[in-house]
Amino acid sequence: MIALPSAADLLDWYDRHARDLPWRIAPDDRRAGIVPDPYHVWLSEIMLQQTTVAAVRDYYRAFLARWPNVEALAAADLDDVLRAWAGLGYYSRARNLKACAEMVARDHGGRFPDSEDALRALPGIGAYTAAAIAAIAFDARAAVVDGNVERVMARLFRIETPLPDAKPEIRAAMDRLTPADRPGDFAQAVMDLGATLCTPRRPACALCPWSQACAGRHAGVAETLPLKAPK
Ligand code: ADE
Repeated sequence: MIALPSAADLLDWYDRHARDLPWRIAPDDRRAGIVPDPYHVWLSEIMLQQTTVAAVRDYYRAFLARWPNVEALAAADLDDVLRAWAGLGYYSRARNLKACAEMVARDHGGRFPDSEDALRALPGIGAYTAAAIAAIAFDARAAVVDGNVERVMARLFRIETPLPDAKPEIRAAMDRLTPADRPGDFAQAVMDLGATLCTPRRPACALCPWSQACAGRHAGVAETLPLKAPK
């Protein structure tokens, strides 16, 4: 019998091993009542859409130093924003960033909306980013699924349908597993697990808080998942 994966086991691991990221509220601080600034969460998630954590760190700090809140970014010169973005690539993200800041400042009184639907109506915010902001900034029980999360879920539940067909099954798995308590930390914990232990090659199963519950590991196929349909 394989144990069922528990959100609590992963959150315990996250409490001890969460990565220290400049946009992240550490688990202890969060428990002490410090709440994330939705502007910070939004800015980091837009930057992280097609760019690695390592590349984003310095840009994130520079943007916040120069435009500390959404009103400041809304009032910025677009050319200045594009110049500050140089090196991150995908310039449509920078244009949407500015358009989104303007819309939040003008139509939402400078406050990001807290529902996935309202977030998705803003420029540059798709399904993934809306779920990430709702969960991380507002602690809404949203299923946050990026590439790391897909890999972890495919292995944990031994989902052998190839991507992209596996996406609905993977999303349903993440949705079932996401707890009502600390959904934002849970989403970030799955991302960290995928980035640090449940890596594409040579996953560190011996250190994983879900190793006993992992159907892929029990079957000896974890490293082969997720499968990808030939292009
Ligand atoms: N990748 C995208 N969003 C992230 C986050 N909030 N934490 C870690 N990695 C991420």
